[in-house]
Amino acid sequence: MVRDEPRTAPPHELVLKSWNDSGCHTHLLGCSVTRQALLIDPKAGKQAVYEKALADYRLTLAGVVDTHTHADHLSDSAAWIARGVRCFMGQATGCQRAVARLRDGDSIEVGRLRFRVLEVPGHTQDSIALAGHGVVVTGDTLMVGGLARADFRGSDPAQLFDGVRKKLLSLPDATVVLPGHGYQDILFTTIGHERAHNPALQHTSGRAYADALKAVAGAGNSPDVDATLALNLVADPALPDAPVAVAACCSVGGASIAGHTVREQSCQELAPRLAEIAARGDWIDVRDPWELSSDGRLPGVANFPLSELGFALETLRAHPPEVVSCKSGARSAIAVKTLVYLGVLRDPISMAGGFGKWKASGLPIA
Ligand SMILES: [Fe+2]
Repeated sequence: MVRDEPRTAPPHELVLKSWNDSGCHTHLLGCSVTRQALLIDPKAGKQAVYEKALADYRLTLAGVVDTHTHADHLSDSAAWIARGVRCFMGQATGCQRAVARLRDGDSIEVGRLRFRVLEVPGHTQDSIALAGHGVVVTGDTLMVGGLARADFRGSDPAQLFDGVRKKLLSLPDATVVLPGHGYQDILFTTIGHERAHNPALQHTSGRAYADALKAVAGAGNSPDVDATLALNLVADPALPDAPVAVAACCSVGGASIAGHTVREQSCQELAPRLAEIAARGDWIDVRDPWELSSDGRLPGVANFPLSELGFALETLRAHPPEVVSCKSGARSAIAVKTLVYLGVLRDPISMAGGFGKWKASGLPIA
């Protein structure tokens, strides 16, 4: 079968871009009609990255959401507030910034998009998730293969488990889960996959989960965690010049593709087979769409942007690609790990060095 679609697109007018920066995820959700966008959990020190994405996607930032008070990285919300961008947090937050406070059942609208607010406390008391248009942004509640940590001061593992079960697992199986962290290079998951495979969710109740976890409240509040929390709570933080790295991770358990090694081949090894593999529709490029326009593309290769792969799972499952490529080989490896974790692909090849190496080697481009 030859893929006749030049690229896939998420449903319902949604533009999606996700980043993983040292295990912290940030998500950009945009309306493809009005070009307005919502930025979720931006990190301090990364404004240039977000600005470039807004320009690349021709989006205007309409709002910023912090899903909770972060313990492991500095929020960028104060900088966006200073620039006149509306910022949102859950109603239970102790943050002193001028944030609009969202309650359970509220909606947040961006152009023609509308996301429902779900309060899911337990990691922190101000944790929220946003659901709509086939995705749920879970922040630090439901993670890939685990739940958020629940040993910080104010955490409650039983409350977290019960909230995830009641409010998130009630969403349709195909819902794409966009978590606040990923420490194993798995960018997203689905509600159906986590319901069936997440070890934390196999417990019978919140109390049983809490008993198994034996979490000690406050044990996770190391000095650097407390320092980060303090900076994220004040109205006008004096932020350091460089992003602060806090050793604390924010999930318990967490998925991996243990036992599976990502298979890599060089562009020189793959080049003689490009025409044959592309003709079968068995080679996908996971770069962002504008990169293909500006940098060039591999002849005959379909574009499935990494951030949007969650909307193409059934297509990819029905016709699994043999080769995945990107610009440098980093995003194709993330795509492979994510799709292997979800059971969509078994053992695809990630092209080492990506399109950059291909182009520099003088191999043919379109
Ligand atoms: Fe967190």
